Amino acid sequence: MKRVALLTLAMILSAPAFAAGDAEAGGKLFTKTCGGCHSIGEGARGGFGPQLNGIIDRPAGTTTDYQYSDAMKNSGVVWTRDKLAAYIEAPKKVVSGTRMIFWGISDQEKIQDILAYLETFQPK
Ligand code: HEC
Repeated sequence: MKRVALLTLAMILSAPAFAAGDAEAGGKLFTKTCGGCHSIGEGARGGFGPQLNGIIDRPAGTTTDYQYSDAMKNSGVVWTRDKLAAYIEAPKKVVSGTRMIFWGISDQEKIQDILAYLETFQPK
């Protein structure tokens, strides 16, 4: 009985953490799957891809040290969490003609983890 109660408690406690994503796990995923092309954090600059500081709610194609594709520049997309999640899952479905060659991540938990990590670089 006691064990069940503890388990239930553990599940309740961990549920919100899951919904909001795990920034630490997201950081590892970012380094592995996005970091080859994107930089983020202090001193981040455009490289193979644009830098991603403050990306949540940033309009697409607006960093000043990166040459975007016309598709990205003219997409009219604003990177809300939902748009970002969809883009990480399937870039070309959100910005058809984007130059970002990425196979996409379908695991929603991993996407939320990456978003939680990106969120740690939002201006306060
Ligand atoms: C193979 C290199 C590569 C990988 C890997 C990659 N990207 Fe990109 N990304 C790009 C390029 C290139 C662009 C610019 C696309 C364009 O101009 O059409 C871009 C654009 C973006 C943008 C739009 C930025 C803006 O300023 O509008 C976001 C957001 C983004 N990537 C997020 C990610 C995330 C998150 C990951 C990892 C899950 C990732 N990318 C993996 C190359 C990459």
